[in-house]
Amino acid sequence: MRALSRIAKPDTLAGRALYRILRWLHPGINEQHRLSRLAGRAGYWADMQVYVFGFLTRMGLRPWHTLLDIGCGPLSGGLPLIRYLEPGRYVGVDLLEDTVAEARRQIAKHGLENRRPEVHVSRTFGRDELDGRVFDFIWASQVMYHLVPDDLRALLAQVAARLAPGGRFYGDILDQSVSTAGRYWRGFAFHVHDPEAIAAAAAGLGLAMRRLGRVEEFGFPLPGRLRLSSMLELCRDA
Ligand SMILES: C[S@@+](CC[C@H](N)C(=O)[O-])C[C@H]1O[C@@H](n2cnc3c(N)ncnc32)[C@H](O)[C@@H]1O
Repeated sequence: MRALSRIAKPDTLAGRALYRILRWLHPGINEQHRLSRLAGRAGYWADMQVYVFGFLTRMGLRPWHTLLDIGCGPLSGGLPLIRYLEPGRYVGVDLLEDTVAEARRQIAKHGLENRRPEVHVSRTFGRDELDGRVFDFIWASQVMYHLVPDDLRALLAQVAARLAPGGRFYGDILDQSVSTAGRYWRGFAFHVHDPEAIAAAAAGLGLAMRRLGRVEEFGFPLPGRLRLSSMLELCRDA
């Protein structure tokens, strides 16, 4: 199925036709279609899993680390991470109740309860749900560009409060050239944030920021201008 889902992408006229036929023929592809629409773009469920797992392990994520996945979606990247991490080390938060309900269904469907993952509905990036817990890695994929500036500041404050010593945050922001007017995804608008403003806000919270490059350099699979997004790293200022 992985090979089929790699070739069938609904991005061209011919691709859309093939994609529809495969969805009709293959219940697994139809299910991935449903899930990928909850996570972002249809047709990229398996590819996102490969990208997220590859990126975080390349950044040094190991089974004994703890991970907070902000805007975890229906566990697009979360499923392989839950399998990889030792029990009790994965926590996801998301704003949407139906998405978190789907994440919980995925955990049960894949028999991952014994890995003791947690997923929470949160309007505060975990502030109200996670007490004083800290994490070695905090990850926010395709989330920061859906946040208005006040929410982005609240996210940064949570990152500052929740990074364990030596911990790191990774998240992507849209390229400055992207036009966001009239663009929405599931009711979320898109926002272009100034990386220098983020660096200044982060510095005020005791965090240092680095731009690692475009997400396409790390294997981000979606087509279009999201590939140009910058991956940011935040860690405590030494
Ligand atoms: C495009 S999806 C990305 C899902 C997943 N991180 C991925 O990369 O596949 C954006 C996710 O962020 C969530 N989200 C948006 N605003 C949020 C907020 N303020 N707090 C938590 N999650 C939020 C959405 O509900 C959605 O699940």
